Amino acid sequence: MTRSPRAIAAAVAAILAVLALSACTNGTQNEAPVDPSTAKIGLLLPDSVTARYDTADRPYFEERVRELCPDCEVLYGNADGDTAKQQQQAESMLTQGVSVLVLDPYDGKAAATIVRLAQSRRVPVISYDRLIDSPDLAYYISFDNELVGRLQGQALVEKLREDGVKPGDGGILMVNGSPTDNNASQFKKGAHELIDASGYAVLAEFDTPGWDPARAQDWVAGQITQFGDRIVGVYAANDPTAGGAIASLKAAGISPLPPVTGQDAELAGLQRILTGDQYMTVYKALRPEAAKAAELAVDLVNGRTPAGEVHIEVGGRSIPSFLLEPVAVTRDRIGPVVIDDGFFTLAQLCTSDYAAACAAAGLG
Ligand code: BGC
Repeated sequence: MTRSPRAIAAAVAAILAVLALSACTNGTQNEAPVDPSTAKIGLLLPDSVTARYDTADRPYFEERVRELCPDCEVLYGNADGDTAKQQQQAESMLTQGVSVLVLDPYDGKAAATIVRLAQSRRVPVISYDRLIDSPDLAYYISFDNELVGRLQGQALVEKLREDGVKPGDGGILMVNGSPTDNNASQFKKGAHELIDASGYAVLAEFDTPGWDPARAQDWVAGQITQFGDRIVGVYAANDPTAGGAIASLKAAGISPLPPVTGQDAELAGLQRILTGDQYMTVYKALRPEAAKAAELAVDLVNGRTPAGEVHIEVGGRSIPSFLLEPVAVTRDRIGPVVIDDGFFTLAQLCTSDYAAACAAAGLG
């Protein structure tokens, strides 16, 4: 059978298109599968002032890797809020021969150096929870972080209105997250959208270095000296910084406490919500986030490069990404959202100190 020149040209074009597509699916690293019986996967997390990393992200990630690749070994490092330490941990993992790095950067810009180094060893990097400012990422997995900020801002503004607070009565303190964390600027952006449109003024705001609750506490103490009872609400970007803010408000004898936001549904944060010290938190289902990162890491070990659900532009390149949805949690939502999802058990939440508050909230 003879083919017309046009049919041959079409066939050649189709083959070229397939080749071009396969070269694009994973921009930088399209490695041959690694032997899973010897594969090592590096997990690098950013700080130890936030409970989630050691109590949730790490165990959930390790559990899912074990299920998918029983012989894979997970190497773990927590940077303890130190850029240089994270760089050293990454270098050490690369020297030990990891096949993939799952990296939640302490400093999203500085971590581009780690990605470059990994790339030179043909080791793909998954940007975990916080975005790394590098076009060479294999994947990015996180939550819709501007939505986190909008949920916090909305809950605060609605609570102030519900309590009959007038814009002229005072304003809001904003305790933002770390200036080295891309998420923190997204939370702040989302929160500002709601607060700026509400008519309530922002009295002052602070980017908390390293998300350190002690720094948040000190800053709030200074603002209380300056603004006193003109503070009608506190936007705190996560539960540990909320805890710091609340400690200062209590130490200054402010009563009743103004509404304070949070994030992470930490046990301590949920317990403060039960007793009325903290107004809300944002629940982010960390199990699916960590599990997805583990699945992608094992896929990469096996030479597979699944498509992303969405694409995020970084430095002119489109990074295949997965973004999960956060949920606002006030007192009446702790049961249906956090407990029903298995994030904590009632026994963990409702210890003897909180038994009465739990009963009053219909828990336990
Ligand atoms: C995470 C938050 C966490 C904060 C402090 C952010 O990047 O998304 O869940 O509370 O870092 O570690």
